[in-house]
Amino acid sequence: MQKLSIHGGVPLSGEVRVAGAKNAALPILTAALLSASPLRIANVPNLNDVRTMIQLLQRMGVKARRDQRGIDLDASSVTDPVAPYELVKTMRASVLALGPLTARFGEARVSLPGGCAIGERPVDLHIKGLEAMGAEVSIDAGYIHARAKRLKGARVFMDTVTVTGTENLMMAASLAEGETVLENAAREPEVVDLARCLIAMGARIRGHGTDEIVVEGVERLNGADYTVMADRIEAGTFLAAAAATGGSVTLTHAPVESLDAIIDKLREAGAEVKTSGDTVRLAMPRRARSVSVRTAPYPGFPTDMQAQFIALNCVAEGTAFVTETIFENRFMHVQELRRLGARIEIEGNTAFVHGVDRLAGARVMATDLRASASLVIAGLVAEGETVIDRIYHLDRGYERIEERLGRLGARIARVS
Ligand code: EPU
Repeated sequence: MQKLSIHGGVPLSGEVRVAGAKNAALPILTAALLSASPLRIANVPNLNDVRTMIQLLQRMGVKARRDQRGIDLDASSVTDPVAPYELVKTMRASVLALGPLTARFGEARVSLPGGCAIGERPVDLHIKGLEAMGAEVSIDAGYIHARAKRLKGARVFMDTVTVTGTENLMMAASLAEGETVLENAAREPEVVDLARCLIAMGARIRGHGTDEIVVEGVERLNGADYTVMADRIEAGTFLAAAAATGGSVTLTHAPVESLDAIIDKLREAGAEVKTSGDTVRLAMPRRARSVSVRTAPYPGFPTDMQAQFIALNCVAEGTAFVTETIFENRFMHVQELRRLGARIEIEGNTAFVHGVDRLAGARVMATDLRASASLVIAGLVAEGETVIDRIYHLDRGYERIEERLGRLGARIARVS
């Protein structure tokens, strides 16, 4: 199994291009199911999760072709509207096929995602929304089985803000008869990116980016040529790594408008951050000050950056309170960071991070995608060698991370 070996202590320095957003690309790939005409998608990151999604679509009968510019998907003949257990268990985002399949083919079977390393993660709101649109949904042998002749527009209230839930229902509503109103909808930039792609395909959507999305269903959607937004979590991870190492980096092709919460906290930590167009420059001339964060749905501080900010706080001056409000079990990185010498206590959903002067390299294990990103950051700071096991978690969300950090001066290598 592959591992990452990092010799820490080098301040990151240089320029890096931000890749396309994983969490925008995944729903946009499933949007191809909504149309019989080809969808061409550019700026799709080359990640394990993207490969899994393409495999899933291909199993259903979608033709997929990837070249240097992007991915062409042709869902003119879908033969099997099923997301099987083997694929859903490796990637929960497979549940995004549920809305499009039900809307276009009147039937879907999607393996019910189980709990995962970061929490229980039910999909009751996806199901409730489809039922409100007239689908008959049953759980049968571990599969969600949804059927509907044609979905009907409805008012759907979601009592928790859910990103993929909003995306699933927005896609389903695009082909429903009449108007659907999604209340308490997720405002995440990735939801907005999907809405823009659907609009390019002929969907009639307004209110995306607010908590009330209105979708006027149409009979059919066309193909389109769409470019995925840049990844705000990847951008944030590079910035946090630069800040923790006392470095200075420039991000190009960055989704600057969606980085406010992250940049605000980095400035509070003492970083100098300048933005211009789609470029972000960060320099950290001093030891970071600790910064407390509380995760919240967008535009609040993203849960997908919580682990990386714990890593930054591990070596900052002072004590930070990091409160996780989205997922109930997203502190798995804490015990691994302690192996590097971090001083962290957990009480309920808050981690108290007491900054230490130095971390020391050790062998650690990645437990999920963002946990592994926090271990990389800590490894870049720690004295001596840090070896991270199970880096397939990292490959789900970061493209050729060792190469790109290597170009910023990090001493990092993939080893078998
Ligand atoms: N929830 C419910 N019922 C539902 C759906 C969600 O109770 O039907 C709860 C969840 O248990 C959780 C909260 O609502 O407590 C929010 O979960 P959400 O549904 O928004 O999460 P998600 O859509 O499954 C996406 C991202 C995650 C990211 C979260 C939160 C994708 C493919 N995944 O997940 O990304 O953490 O939103 O922003 O977009 C990652 O990239 O590392 C990652 C985990």
